[in-house]
Amino acid sequence: MDPNMNANTDNKDPIATPNHTPQLQAFRDIVESRRSVRRFTDTPIPDDVLADCLRLAMLAPNSSNLQPWEFYVIDDADNRKRAIKNCMNQNAAKTSARLIAIVARTDIWHEHAQQILREYPDQPVPKKVKDYYNKVVTLDFLRGPANVISAAKWGATQVVRRVKGPLKSPYYTFEDTKNWATNNTALAAENLMLALRAHGFDSCPMGGFDEPAMKALLNLSDDHHIVMMIGAGERADNGVYNTQFRFDQKQFVHYV
Ligand SMILES: Cc1cc2nc3c(=O)[nH]c(=O)nc-3n(C[C@H](O)[C@H](O)[C@H](O)COP(=O)(O)O)c2cc1C
Repeated sequence: MDPNMNANTDNKDPIATPNHTPQLQAFRDIVESRRSVRRFTDTPIPDDVLADCLRLAMLAPNSSNLQPWEFYVIDDADNRKRAIKNCMNQNAAKTSARLIAIVARTDIWHEHAQQILREYPDQPVPKKVKDYYNKVVTLDFLRGPANVISAAKWGATQVVRRVKGPLKSPYYTFEDTKNWATNNTALAAENLMLALRAHGFDSCPMGGFDEPAMKALLNLSDDHHIVMMIGAGERADNGVYNTQFRFDQKQFVHYV
């Protein structure tokens, strides 16, 4: 169990009170007015605004607080030119005030587990937190040469499940870890887009880019995965291409 799951009953969140509706309306306004914007004006996004949006992005929930994400703000003129080309010259990239690569990392879990122990807010670090990051996290991610540890983990998991009952699967393969890192990073990407909206700016997430070319441009390794590119800026009058619609909730929501 994640040791960060301890309830802090002193920390009553005023937003959580049911009658506290102004925040709810503000939240709705932000979510409902966010659109994928494909054309932006020439208005820049100030550095402090972008920094605040990135700060809010990194407040996204993430597994064991391991924060496997990175954000590459492509400001250099030459890099930007090449990045736009790698985004297939989409208008959302071409006209953006800022262009950001949202990157998930599959190699950082151990380093971040150790960093958590160094920077943990409550010092000395409680033993169960130390054990969690030194032992549980390590066992969860470690694969060993030729996945030999994964094979042992797989066998042990089957036995424990049979004997003790439900058990969260550890990560057996590189793809498992990539999924893990990508899931976490996508949550931060959504926070970033909503934060931009709350600041009066807009965004377009882009999966339509040449990943190998973009990785080469940003000097990224095989353990860096570009989850999406985000073009951001002030919405132009012709920035939204179509009316927003979604299928009926009934199609997706199952009360079981
Ligand atoms: C992972 C992902 C990749 C996307 N890729 C592109 C893209 O390459 N180009 C684009 O114009 N929009 C892209 N979009 C935006 C979607 O088309 C858009 O979110 C969807 O049509 C719904 O519209 P809305 O965001 O305005 O509600 C992408 C969205 C996501 C989440």
